[in-house]
Amino acid sequence: LCHQIKVFIFTGNLTDCPNKVLIANLPGEIEALSGSCLQIPCKFKSTHHTYDITKAKNGVWLQNKTTFKTNPEAVIFNSSGSVNKNSLKMIGNLREEDCTTVFPDLKTSHTDSYFLRIQSWPFRATDVCHPLHITVKDSPWSPSINVPSDLKEHQSVTVTCSAFTPCPHSPPELTWTLQQDSFNQTEKNTDGTFTTKIQENITLSDTHDGYNISCSAKYPVIGGNKTAETEVTLSVSYAPRNTSASISPSGLVSAGSLVELMCSSRAKPPPRFTWFRNNKDGATNVSVEQVYRFNGTQRGKFYCVATNHLGNQTSSFILVNIISEKRVFLMFCLLSMFH
Ligand SMILES: *[C@@H]1O[C@H](CO)[C@@H](O)[C@H](O)[C@H]1NC(C)=O
Ligand SMILES: *[C@@H]1O[C@H](CO)[C@@H](O)[C@H](O)[C@H]1NC(C)=O
Ligand SMILES: *[C@@H]1O[C@H](CO)[C@@H](O)[C@H](O)[C@H]1NC(C)=O
Ligand SMILES: *[C@@H]1O[C@H](CO)[C@@H](O)[C@H](O)[C@H]1NC(C)=O
Ligand SMILES: *[C@@H]1O[C@H](CO)[C@@H](O)[C@H](O)[C@H]1NC(C)=O
Ligand SMILES: *[C@@H]1O[C@H](CO)[C@@H](O)[C@H](O)[C@H]1NC(C)=O
Ligand SMILES: *[C@@H]1O[C@H](CO)[C@@H](O)[C@H](O)[C@H]1NC(C)=O
Ligand SMILES: *[C@@H]1O[C@H](CO)[C@@H](O)[C@H](O)[C@H]1NC(C)=O
Ligand SMILES: *[C@@H]1O[C@H](CO)[C@@H](O)[C@H](O)[C@H]1NC(C)=O
Ligand SMILES: *[C@@H]1O[C@H](CO)[C@@H](O)[C@H](O)[C@H]1NC(C)=O
Ligand SMILES: *[C@@H]1O[C@H](CO)[C@@H](O)[C@H](O)[C@H]1NC(C)=O
Repeated sequence: LCHQIKVFIFTGNLTDCPNKVLIANLPGEIEALSGSCLQIPCKFKSTHHTYDITKAKNGVWLQNKTTFKTNPEAVIFNSSGSVNKNSLKMIGNLREEDCTTVFPDLKTSHTDSYFLRIQSWPFRATDVCHPLHITVKDSPWSPSINVPSDLKEHQSVTVTCSAFTPCPHSPPELTWTLQQDSFNQTEKNTDGTFTTKIQENITLSDTHDGYNISCSAKYPVIGGNKTAETEVTLSVSYAPRNTSASISPSGLVSAGSLVELMCSSRAKPPPRFTWFRNNKDGATNVSVEQVYRFNGTQRGKFYCVATNHLGNQTSSFILVNIISEKRVFLMFCLLSMFH
């Protein structure tokens, strides 16, 4: 009647693994923030014949201070209330195989391995094979900003900033350079840990290219707040805009001298340029360079088109006014006469 599963009581002997008597489902490794609480996700199960879930009574936490093999000091918590060294609270219902525990106000000295023990007479066992290692840090986790890749203008995207939340009862406060009334909430992850996020949908335009989004997570801790920040820079593709054509030299060009037409445009990725010359029967493609150089022989109307994979934009017309040698001579004479 009085079964004792001796092998698994107060032993840290890893050759006993896997332990088929009690299997604790813990994250294995978890990080905590000093001065904050930690909610430890915890489930357990057993297939041992003495195990009767309806009788699950006591959940016990052991700390691997040295080795807890016969060391009663190793017991830091007993849900019966007999031991509670760190004001732990087992908030899970043991009869539902839930041993979720809240560890308030952690200190860096609490960094250690912890083991779960379940007692429901005559069953009692410690899972030494699945310890929970808690690492208590002094500085908080930087939040992460999630933006889809390959951003284009006119696209509507969801930007999310999320932060690890050790203590769902006092989650970090997230703020960012986007709108402050963003959708925000604390969510449970599949592994039982929590994440706090803020989210906003934005419709992208060229003005978002190079825009910095910074997000800060303020963790409430005993005696103040601890803050960490993350920044990302958006890279948004957009079709050409502000496309314009200019001429050098400006004004009248004497016949046969060099004319330079320059096309400029703002686009991401940078555009290709095509120069057209207007004729009676439409336009002809005369150059595919950003700067079109030619020797002026006759008047002409030119324009350029800037193109990238998102679209194209046409500049306004530019007039090339050629003045012949003969006229230059006449004008020279005319001018001389007045002096
Ligand atoms: C661990 O357990 C095995 C068998 O269960 C035993 O042979 C071995 O001596 C134990 N080792 C220690 C360090 O207790
Ligand atoms: C328990 O503590 C001892 C002594 O510090 C160490 O050697 C051992 O690795 C620890 N065990 C676990 C599971 O952390
Ligand atoms: C936990 O408390 C119960 C009730 O006081 C006691 O029977 C049990 O032995 C304790 N367990 C440990 C490991 O201290
Ligand atoms: C979170 O949402 C609430 C309303 O749901 C809003 O009042 C609050 O300003 C939001 N907080 C942040 C940081 O966006
Ligand atoms: C953002 O867009 C998604 C999908 O398009 C939608 O499900 C969500 O409700 C939107 N969120 C807000 C805050 O508008
Ligand atoms: C964005 O951040 C980078 C690096 O911190 C900085 O060089 C740049 O000037 C910022 N851009 C804007 C628009 O503030
Ligand atoms: C911590 O942050 C909260 C929320 O922003 C604020 O109300 C409080 O004054 C801050 N506490 C300290 C000590 O800075
Ligand atoms: C560029 O074009 C936009 C409209 O597309 C206009 O609002 C802006 O003033 C232009 N900028 C310059 C420098 O011409
Ligand atoms: C312009 O002409 C060049 C050379 O003939 C050709 O490669 C290019 O595809 C033409 N571009 C357009 C937009 O017609
Ligand atoms: C323009 O004219 C100059 C001199 O008349 C000549 O050397 C040059 O090759 C010409 N350039 C072009 C592009 O026709
Ligand atoms: C500019 O785009 C329009 C429609 O998007 C297309 O019909 C036209 O051929 C394009 N022009 C050039 C020069 O690529």
